[in-house]
Amino acid sequence: MVFVALKRPPRRTNRVACEGTFTPHPAPAPVSLPGTLRRATPDDAPAVARLLQVAYKDNEKLGVEYNAAAVTEERVRRYLVRDEVWVLERDGRLVATVGLQRHIEVRRLAVDPDARGSGVAAELLAFAEGEAAQAGFREAQLFVDGDHPWLQGFYTRHGWEEEGRVSVPEYPGWEMVKFQKRLGR
Ligand SMILES: CC(C)(COP(=O)(O)OP(=O)(O)OC[C@H]1O[C@@H](n2cnc3c(N)ncnc32)[C@H](O)[C@@H]1OP(=O)(O)O)[C@@H](O)C(=O)NCCC(=O)NCCS
Repeated sequence: MVFVALKRPPRRTNRVACEGTFTPHPAPAPVSLPGTLRRATPDDAPAVARLLQVAYKDNEKLGVEYNAAAVTEERVRRYLVRDEVWVLERDGRLVATVGLQRHIEVRRLAVDPDARGSGVAAELLAFAEGEAAQAGFREAQLFVDGDHPWLQGFYTRHGWEEEGRVSVPEYPGWEMVKFQKRLGR
């Protein structure tokens, strides 16, 4: 999944992490989820990689394949440096994650299979939208695998509008569904 919103520049451009450096982020807005939502650091790479692998591997039961199911620790480390990535931690274990690239591209929303079905993804999605809006963006976009049986309905129920089918560089040859949402201010 990739969200992109480029309607207007962020107010705080200095929050963008450059390749090779890690920029800490101020404390996130509180969420009502049990556990601690915190910014991931590069040291979290092994645990985030495991979480993404388990969460996305589970999609194969639905006949949907994402390359995040086989993501390497090294690739995750680069992702943690480049993007703002958030993790939900419970009892010392990471149970969910969402990433925000350039403040407005939200990536890799994933919940551990054991923690699903209790609104974690919906709350993290709202959190990421809030972060993008706070950074000054008025619209966001996202891409969902066109074959996923229920994710498109999830985004529609949460105010996202389908824009059409596209191909994205991360998934060459695959058809993704592009969604867009106007962010509340
Ligand atoms: C997608 C994912 C993050 C959802 O996590 P979750 O914490 O179980 O989701 P929530 O409990 O917040 O539920 C989200 C919505 O999806 C719906 N949903 C969740 N599981 C569902 C299922 N198996 N069948 C149908 N709908 C389902 C819920 O009803 C809910 O709808 P609502 O918010 O309109 O009430 C999780 O399944 C996951 O990690 N999947 C693998 C990674 C992935 O595909 N990420 C998305 C990439 S675009």
